[in-house]
Amino acid sequence: MGRRILIFGASGRTGQVLQAAAEQAGYEVLAPAHADCPLEQAEQVSDLVLGCGAQLVVNCAAISGLEACADDPLQAHLVNAVAPAAMALACRHTGARFVHLSTDYVLCGRRPGVKDESARCRPINWYAESKREGELQVLEALPTAVVARVSWVCGNPQKPSFIESSVAKALAGQELAAVADKVSLPTDAADIARAALALGEGDYAGIIHVCSGGEPLSWWHCATLALQAAVEQGALPAAPAIAQQKLDEVPFFREPRPRYTGMSNARLTGQLGIAMPGAAETVAAVVRRYLEQRG
Ligand SMILES: NC(=O)c1ccc[n+]([C@@H]2O[C@H](COP(=O)([O-])OP(=O)(O)OC[C@H]3O[C@@H](n4cnc5c(N)ncnc54)[C@H](OP(=O)(O)O)[C@@H]3O)[C@@H](O)[C@H]2O)c1
Repeated sequence: MGRRILIFGASGRTGQVLQAAAEQAGYEVLAPAHADCPLEQAEQVSDLVLGCGAQLVVNCAAISGLEACADDPLQAHLVNAVAPAAMALACRHTGARFVHLSTDYVLCGRRPGVKDESARCRPINWYAESKREGELQVLEALPTAVVARVSWVCGNPQKPSFIESSVAKALAGQELAAVADKVSLPTDAADIARAALALGEGDYAGIIHVCSGGEPLSWWHCATLALQAAVEQGALPAAPAIAQQKLDEVPFFREPRPRYTGMSNARLTGQLGIAMPGAAETVAAVVRRYLEQRG
């Protein structure tokens, strides 16, 4: 009989891609819909894990909007911290491997430079606070769990990120602007899926940074690379200019964002041998997939 995987959040940007990759890899996939297993109900979450017979559980579910978390911090805490802890504890009982996705936003973003897994955490918004609490509770409940921190998820054409949206806007002839004074590294959902399955199948435990390699880029820089890729791939005659915005000037950002959260993927790629592309390569691949899907 094939291995069974339980994926929470399979309708999300990362979860959709993980579900396809797991099916491709021959897993029997269980993917409960939000309505069938609301994560605010920790007991229901735990019963599902205990009874489903999965050898691997991956949590891609989260309240990932910063403003949504600020609007309801209690719900953010239940979904982003309490539910993952319940998953971890249930996995401890069943013996299933558990991979939980977290975020670069938990890191202290005051200073430039890439951060490894030992870097200091300093959540500065409700989202990051709930995600950091989730990391700690998961590892306390199940020390053999993997907490995979990802950043700027892109590469699912069904759920476009700012990279795909920049190309869409350029193709529609719309004006473009992007934040130039905040940096991180993009992560292709396909690479997260590949890494999550490899980490779930291996024996690594603890926090691991899963993102593209290289120097952190601003949203403006990523959008610039995306338009260059669209030109090289023949979708645009020339790359239009992108206005540079300041983080503090984005009107719909009510919550503070950390400025420097680029992560080092050296442990993933070096110690564990799971290859990741460089940031520019990621952007080009994501643009190619988006253009192919648009037809
Ligand atoms: N997106 C990014 O750029 C980014 C960056 C860094 C880290 N991350 C982390 O990466 C992971 C995946 O992010 P993502 O962007 O793929 O997420 P996403 O697209 O926002 O999807 C979230 C998933 O969680 C489900 N969900 C939300 N609230 C729920 C609830 N109360 N009960 C049950 N299910 C619920 C959603 O279901 P419905 O859609 O049906 O509600 C959806 O399937 C998360 O841990 C996130 O914190 C994301």
